[in-house]
Amino acid sequence: MIHVRLSPTLNFQFGAFTVLVLLICSCQTHVIGPTRPIAATVGEDVILQSFLDPVMDAFGMTVEWTRPAMNPSFVYVWRDGVELESKKHPLYEGRTSVFTEELKRGNISLKLSRVRISDEGRYRCFIPALDKDHVVQLVVGAASSPVVQKTKDSSGLVLQCESTGWYPEPEMFWLDGEGNLLSAGPTETVRGPDDLYTVSSRVTVEKRHSNSFTCRVQQNSTNQIRETQIHVPDDFFEVQSSSSSAKVGLAASFAVSILFNLILGFFVWKYKTKRSSKDHRVNEEETESKPLMKMKELKKGKAARIKPEVHMNVSLSVIITYLP
Ligand SMILES: *[C@@H]1O[C@H](CO)[C@@H](O)[C@H](O)[C@H]1NC(C)=O
Ligand SMILES: *[C@@H]1O[C@H](CO)[C@@H](O)[C@H](O)[C@H]1NC(C)=O
Repeated sequence: MIHVRLSPTLNFQFGAFTVLVLLICSCQTHVIGPTRPIAATVGEDVILQSFLDPVMDAFGMTVEWTRPAMNPSFVYVWRDGVELESKKHPLYEGRTSVFTEELKRGNISLKLSRVRISDEGRYRCFIPALDKDHVVQLVVGAASSPVVQKTKDSSGLVLQCESTGWYPEPEMFWLDGEGNLLSAGPTETVRGPDDLYTVSSRVTVEKRHSNSFTCRVQQNSTNQIRETQIHVPDDFFEVQSSSSSAKVGLAASFAVSILFNLILGFFVWKYKTKRSSKDHRVNEEETESKPLMKMKELKKGKAARIKPEVHMNVSLSVIITYLP
């Protein structure tokens, strides 16, 4: 057996060398990870990647995962080979962990379980011994498939689409069988107590649009799309025509009101032309006899003429308002 005995000076030199190596390492070792935001889905688990480069054993080091914007800011602390739970923010109780086996390989990634909307934000991974950190941005999204129902009302066949459990707020579109955008009513948005959005929209469709319709819900920032297609059988449109008698009645009353307005308008026009020709004649006479008074008289005549016109216009608009 060979015993290697180090002299005290050599021992000291070796120690100094180790410290020097560690110092160099700490200068060169970086905590790295994704620089792009990490997307997570509400209710699911996500791993916030972070590791030491070049690879170093991190098992014996202190690893701090924090959310700088929170107080207390600790999300997870690894110290002396175990989790230090005392400083942890209550929101993360039982939901954060590191991969113990991976620490030895310099993998200090954080696992966050059962993601909540409130988890969205910046996470900092810090190694005090190296004085190095890395920040990961977490964005949280939620999506679910829409539900489409068909109903009928006086205006025709109405499709209703609803989708719950979205985050952030999505947009809702209607498409026909060829993928053309249909013009629908405004999308109604409700935010629930769980901060998730429910969106709904209605569209009135006709057979000419085609038989199948798609309700699409889309969230651009989290790149989520969910859609549901509905097929409307031909006879569903046919049944619709039975209520067309009501439509005819409505159209008839509309036509009558237009006719009435036309007749009224005609009389108003006649009345006005009669008056203006009379005024014209009066003006002509006055111009001949008293040219100097022309402007004054003209003004007066105008003022007098305006009044009945205003009355007629007002009464006309009142009639129009009260007509169906
Ligand atoms: C770190 O460990 C986790 C869990 O095993 C793994 O998903 C991830 O890919 C690892 N990261 C690296 C850089 O090895
Ligand atoms: C989302 O993307 C679609 C195209 O895919 C676009 O029509 C829509 O305007 C976008 N919405 C927002 C809010 O940017």
